[in-house]
Amino acid sequence: MADTLLTIEGLTVSVEGKQILNGVDLAVGRGEVHAIMGPNGSGKSTLANALMGHPRYQVTGGTVRFKGEDILALSPDKRAQRGLFLAFQYPMSIPGVTMVNFLRQAMKAVRGEDVPVREFREKLFATMKLLKMDQEFARRYVNEGFSGGEKKRAEILQMGILDPDLAIMDETDSGLDIDALRTVAEGVNALTTPKLGVVLITHYQRLLNYIKPQFVHILYQGRIIESGGPELALQLEAEGYDPVIEKYAPALVAATGEKA
Ligand SMILES: Nc1ncnc2c1ncn2[C@@H]1O[C@H](COP(=O)(O)OP(=O)(O)OP(=O)(O)O)[C@@H](O)[C@H]1O
Ligand SMILES: [Mg+2]
Repeated sequence: MADTLLTIEGLTVSVEGKQILNGVDLAVGRGEVHAIMGPNGSGKSTLANALMGHPRYQVTGGTVRFKGEDILALSPDKRAQRGLFLAFQYPMSIPGVTMVNFLRQAMKAVRGEDVPVREFREKLFATMKLLKMDQEFARRYVNEGFSGGEKKRAEILQMGILDPDLAIMDETDSGLDIDALRTVAEGVNALTTPKLGVVLITHYQRLLNYIKPQFVHILYQGRIIESGGPELALQLEAEGYDPVIEKYAPALVAATGEKA
């Protein structure tokens, strides 16, 4: 497919010698929003970190192509330069560094060259306006004393400034209050363009009341065991993961010889 952004085939990943992803297949096209759901410890964050090239996550097999290019050999900064963006589940705070400076450095890093002040300011203000953010926010230190909602706002602002082709968002369920949920949802909805692909990782069904993914995938024990449309998320909300896992258990036993 010509407008496929990301193609993952048979991806296996180990962390500290332990295999966590056991063969993940996923294709994400431009303009598509994919939700990846799954119980705690199923490998969702591992997938996000491996895609971004985090050094602790060792890819032991499979391929990842982004815009037609094999990116597994690229460093994280090169992946970002190609248009890949990852919003972390647990963002760091950077005392003494304002959002403005942080965003300018991030933009410079992703471009691979300095960004003229004027151009940067125009982009910053336009993005903040789009996201309905107070300009005062940009003068605060990165994540320092931020509420859950403000951390999400910082993340979405960074995404808007960097203007990626593919945004991978790893959302925590704990501490994500309604304000934070709405921020993520409104931000993603505001930034959605026909060129942007989004992979939204969550096991918080409520987030999907605000963002409507066209595709929903369930990750379990390092594999995508079920894919479907938005109705799959509704089914999960009503029935939990057990019915899907039970349906899948015989196949897992056949594949690994282990009990699911
Ligand atoms: N850096 C690490 N060191 C050791 N084990 C790890 C590391 N990262 C992940 N794991 C293990 O890999 C498995 C999958 O973890 P991962 O964080 O990817 O799950 P998750 O689906 O994101 O869970 P959650 O829903 O809680 O965010 C877990 O068993 C976890 O303990
Ligand atoms: Mg996680």
